[in-house]
Amino acid sequence: MKIVVIGPGAMGCLFAGYLQAAGFEASLLDYKSDRAVLIHRQGLIITGVRGDHEVHVPTGINVVDLADADLVLVCVKAYATAAVADEIAGVQPGPRWVLTLQNGVGNVEILSEKLGAERVIGGVTTAGAFVHSPGAVQHAGEGDTIIGRAAGDNAELGPVVEALTRAGFKPDVKPDVQNLIWSKLVVNVGINALGAITRLRNGALIEHQGTAAIMAGAVGEVVAVAEARGIELLHPDPLEAVRTVCRNTSGNTCSMLGDVLAQRRTEIDFINGAVVREGSALGIETPVNRVLTDLVQTIEQSYQVRVTR
Ligand code: PAF
Repeated sequence: MKIVVIGPGAMGCLFAGYLQAAGFEASLLDYKSDRAVLIHRQGLIITGVRGDHEVHVPTGINVVDLADADLVLVCVKAYATAAVADEIAGVQPGPRWVLTLQNGVGNVEILSEKLGAERVIGGVTTAGAFVHSPGAVQHAGEGDTIIGRAAGDNAELGPVVEALTRAGFKPDVKPDVQNLIWSKLVVNVGINALGAITRLRNGALIEHQGTAAIMAGAVGEVVAVAEARGIELLHPDPLEAVRTVCRNTSGNTCSMLGDVLAQRRTEIDFINGAVVREGSALGIETPVNRVLTDLVQTIEQSYQVRVTR
């Protein structure tokens, strides 16, 4: 099975490395040529909960590699999904399957619109990982990986499930992909902006009274919006599910904190910002998510003028 992982962030490196180590023909696609050369030469260095691994994964910038892939994993930031979908749409015959494991809402819709829903798989993972340096990733916590076809029925997913299983991700398959995406959104809404603002690791967010209370407020709002949309969340107690992810990935710096530390654009518009937009469309107040969104947007806009000491 030929697998191309797009985006050498924490999740991209983790999936590419473990898939290659499990015996699949996996490669990584990057848009930055200097980083691609470095990762190609050095290999992936994965440390953490499964021990230490060094895996050579061919890494390049050539989108032609996508043309005959059996499976493409989209692991770029949500704001880059449309550009990646255009790249995939431009190669012939193109991959059989395109699986998004990204944070935030809207990715499945963009990929389906540009590539056709019949080859798109939505997926979520609560595995925790962060990048030390290009290609060097700390696997800070195991999590659940759940997938489902955008087209609805989950026929023909056997080889994808087999690949993820052999790579150690213990995948589950569920029927309604939006239920998955929103269940993961709840986790990201509870953790990411708070981690980015406070600069605390996931575990510490539930140890402080203030962050624990804000988390409860933000999660309560996204649950209300999800219910109004008719979403069936996977966990009967969504706040407890977020706390469980905090405990299971306690040593992790969440992806949004990683973005802020590297002074990059964050996914706030696709996470807490999406809750504010969806809530507003449905007439549901989301004041906690609005404040979190405003604060993270302010941080993003002020990297150059920040007082550091
Ligand atoms: O974005 C992240 O960092 C991850 O989705 C998660 C599950 C919150 C763990 O840090």
